[in-house]
Amino acid sequence: MRRVKIFDTTLRDGEQSPGVALTPEEKLAIAHQLARLGVDVIEAGFPIASPGDFEAVRRIAEEVKGPVIAALARAARPDIERAAEAVEPAEKKRIHTFIATSPIHMEKKLRLAPDEVIERAVWAVEFAKGFTDDVEFSAEDAGRSDPDFLVRIFGEVIQAGATVINIPDTVGYQVPWQFAELVEYVIEKTPGADRVEWSVHCHDDLGLAVANSLAAVRVGATQVECTVNGIGERAGNASLEEVVMALYVRKDFFQAETGINTRELYRTSRLVSQLTGMLVPPNKAVVGQNAFAHESGIHQDGVLKDRLTYEIMNAELVGREAAVLVLGKHSGRHAFKKALEELGYRFSDEELKQLFARFKEIADRKKQVTAEDLIALVEDARTKAPEHFKLLELQVHSGTKLTPVATVRIQTPSGEVTEAATGDGPVDAVYKAIARAVEMEPVLESYRIEATTGGAEALGEVVVRLRMGSVTVGGRGLAPDIVEASARAYLDALNKLVAGVGTREVVEAP
Ligand code: KIV
Ligand code: ZN
Repeated sequence: MRRVKIFDTTLRDGEQSPGVALTPEEKLAIAHQLARLGVDVIEAGFPIASPGDFEAVRRIAEEVKGPVIAALARAARPDIERAAEAVEPAEKKRIHTFIATSPIHMEKKLRLAPDEVIERAVWAVEFAKGFTDDVEFSAEDAGRSDPDFLVRIFGEVIQAGATVINIPDTVGYQVPWQFAELVEYVIEKTPGADRVEWSVHCHDDLGLAVANSLAAVRVGATQVECTVNGIGERAGNASLEEVVMALYVRKDFFQAETGINTRELYRTSRLVSQLTGMLVPPNKAVVGQNAFAHESGIHQDGVLKDRLTYEIMNAELVGREAAVLVLGKHSGRHAFKKALEELGYRFSDEELKQLFARFKEIADRKKQVTAEDLIALVEDARTKAPEHFKLLELQVHSGTKLTPVATVRIQTPSGEVTEAATGDGPVDAVYKAIARAVEMEPVLESYRIEATTGGAEALGEVVVRLRMGSVTVGGRGLAPDIVEASARAYLDALNKLVAGVGTREVVEAP
C-alpha cells in the first residue's frame, strides 16, 4: 500500500468561496477538527491577504498539533516573510509558494518571460528555505502549461530545495486521462523527482476535480489537495471526503491509503457547512443528507436482506450514527455524557453542565434528539460569544392576512428591555425589535436556515452575517422553532460585535 497524504486547503482555497469569510476563531475550530480528522497538512491561510488571515494562521500554528501547518505566499519577499512569521510557532511548518506557468498567465497576468518566471520561482524557494526546510512550490495553472516547461521549472526548484511539488489544475480545465498523462510525464522527466512529494490540486469547474485527483494518484501523485465539502474558488476544489472514501472503498484498485479517520468525516463536513454558511446538497456523495437513504421499495427490500446489495460503504464508517443514537427528554446527564463520548467529544464538568442545560431545553420541546442534533448543539455552543445580550422572551404574531409583529424581552447590561416591531415577515419583525432593544443597527448581509436532520421534527439552525461599518461577523442559533433560532443567531452576532470576538475587517485579498 502506498500512503497518499491529504493536504487540506479548506481554510485557504475553501475560504475563497464567494460569500465565505471565516473569523480567526472559526478557522481555529475547523483546524482543530481537521487535526482530529487526521489530515497530513492544514493550509491555514494566506497571511499577506489581511491581518485577520495572518492572525488565524498564527493561532493555528500556535495551538494545533499533529498536522503540518502551511501558509500560502506568492513568489515575493513580503508574502514569504509574512507567511514565515505566521507559521513560525508551528511544530511542523511549511511555506507554500507559487507562481503561474501557463502562457496566458505569464504573458497577460505576470507580464514575465518564461525564464524570468523560473528565476523568481527559484529565488522564492531559496528565500523560503531560510525560514523552514519544508517548502512547497506550485505552478499555478499547470493544467494549461507546457509539460516541458513544467519539467524545467520543477527541476530548478527541486535543486533550490523544494520538498513538495504541486501541479494545480487551477481553472478546472483538465480531464482525467489527460491529467494523468501530464502528471506521469512530469514525474518521469523531472530531475530529482524521487526526492520530493508530488501533489495535485484540482478545481471543479467541469465537475472533474475528484476524478482528476484520483487519476493523478493512480500515476504517482503522493499528496492530494482538497477541501471539506469541496468548497473553494468558483466551483470549488476536489472534495476531501470523496477523495478519501474513493481511496478507502477502492483500495483494491488504487493500492493506496490515507491517514484519515473516516469516522470524523461527517462531523467535519457539518462544522464546515455551519461555519461557512455553505449548505451541503442532499445528494452530495458521502456527506449529503440522502447519501445513505434508500428510497425505492426494491432498494429497501434488498438492503433489508443484505446491506451490501445497495451499499458500498456504511453510514457509521463516515461517522453518521444518527440512526442508532437517540436521546429524549427523560435522558439523564449520564446518558447525555455517554452519547457525547460516543461521538468523540470530551468536556469538563462545567462545560457538560452548560451543554446539558441547553440539551434539556431542546429535549423538552422535541421528542427525539439525534446524534446530528447533538453535533449541532455542541458546535453551536463552541462558537458562541459571551451573552452580553440575552433573549428572555419572544412572541410573534403573523399570518397570511396579518402584518407580522414581534415582541422581544432582552436582558442587557443595563437591565431588561422590552421592544416590539412590525416587519415584512416574522424574522424581519424580530430583528427590528431586537435592534431597537439593543440600540444597534447592523446590516443583515446574509441569512441561512437549515434543518439538522430531515423531517418536521428537525432542529432549525440559522446562520447570519451582520455588518457594522467595515466589520462583519457571523452568528448562529439553534432551536426547535425557526423564528427563535433566527433570534438567537442575530443575538449571537450582536454579542460577538460587542465583545469584538469573531469580527472581521472587510479587506480585499491581493
Ligand atoms: O488553484 C491554484 O492554482 C491554487 C494555487 C495557489 C495552489 O490555489
Ligand atoms: Zn486553488
